[in-house]
Amino acid sequence: MIITENHPLVKENTFGIEAYARFFIELDNVSEMKELLSTDQFRSMPQLVLGGGSNLLFTRDFSGVVLKNNIKGISLVKEDEEHAYVRAGAGENWHQFVLHCIEENYAGIENLSLIPGNIGAGPMQNIGAYGVELKDVFHELEALNMETLEIETFSNTGCRFGYRESIFKQEAKGKYIITSVTLRLNKKPKFNTSYGAIEKELEQMGVQQLSIRAISDAVIRIRKSKLPDPTVIGNAGSFFKNPVVSTGKYESLKKEFPAIVGYKNSETETKLAAGWLIEQCGWKGKREGDAGVHKDQALVLVNYGHARGNEVFELSEKILRSVKEKFGITLEREVNIV
Ligand code: EPU
Repeated sequence: MIITENHPLVKENTFGIEAYARFFIELDNVSEMKELLSTDQFRSMPQLVLGGGSNLLFTRDFSGVVLKNNIKGISLVKEDEEHAYVRAGAGENWHQFVLHCIEENYAGIENLSLIPGNIGAGPMQNIGAYGVELKDVFHELEALNMETLEIETFSNTGCRFGYRESIFKQEAKGKYIITSVTLRLNKKPKFNTSYGAIEKELEQMGVQQLSIRAISDAVIRIRKSKLPDPTVIGNAGSFFKNPVVSTGKYESLKKEFPAIVGYKNSETETKLAAGWLIEQCGWKGKREGDAGVHKDQALVLVNYGHARGNEVFELSEKILRSVKEKFGITLEREVNIV
């Protein structure tokens, strides 16, 4: 266990925000976590558990202890005719894990290729893309209760997954460190190409025989064409959630704004493309200092160099206000503000 003081966080968050942690500790296993959390000095301090740092915005230095979850390891825990149950340590990189599963011919997460961050962060916000969400393949996870120092197991229902939601963003927030995640993957692939852009991309790639690798490659190409690479331009993916409104509200907006983009969630609810709403308010490609709105995807805020977290936050406030004014919709941030 290595403890450093006044540790720079710029490389620890994909937004590339320059902030400092009072203490920074990398933890490789559960016993190190227990040891640390039972130390009086650290127990009484504010704590922040960090994975890949791909979904947060630092608006200040962190005056407590940042715990970097570095638990590694991938193993096949059981299998049957249909499924392979694969467990991964929370500190494994998500995309490397996806590639590993494709290599082993385990299907179900190929649509989630190239999502930045680590395994442990996946269930926090039920990561999703191109028609698939983590909950579709999630079996269970283990998490350390930071109060009792016991390991607890959470099933799929126990995680209370929703759209970019889980119990770990609600009542269990700040109370657990996820240590491992087990997915139930398919040995016989069920391809999901329902998201229009995938079909189009596969066609352009000239794919004749559908495979999980081909879908993964298509998703990688789409993401690379639309989303900024965080190693080049700092960002945390979608900054806001796509808002869910009543179908009545959607119908009345559609009358006023016929081009509005919405997807029916159920008979009563429609999910709107926040990127479209933000673009209509004139924000796409706008820049204020080093903070900006991405030129190809208005849902993604970016750091062109040395933006302060507060500047990015201020920009997000302005976007919230204009979307509220024009459409009467209050956007919700997806990114965690620290
Ligand atoms: N659109 C615009 N202007 C924009 C951006 C989008 O008009 O600047 C419209 C387009 O009509 C487009 C539609 O919005 O067809 C949807 O856009 P896109 O396919 O890019 O997806 P999204 O709804 O903006 C969501 C997720 C992404 C995920 C993609 C693909 C959320 C908050 N975001 O974005 O997830 O990759 O779908 O499934 O649900 C993330 O969470 O960090 C993330 C990148």
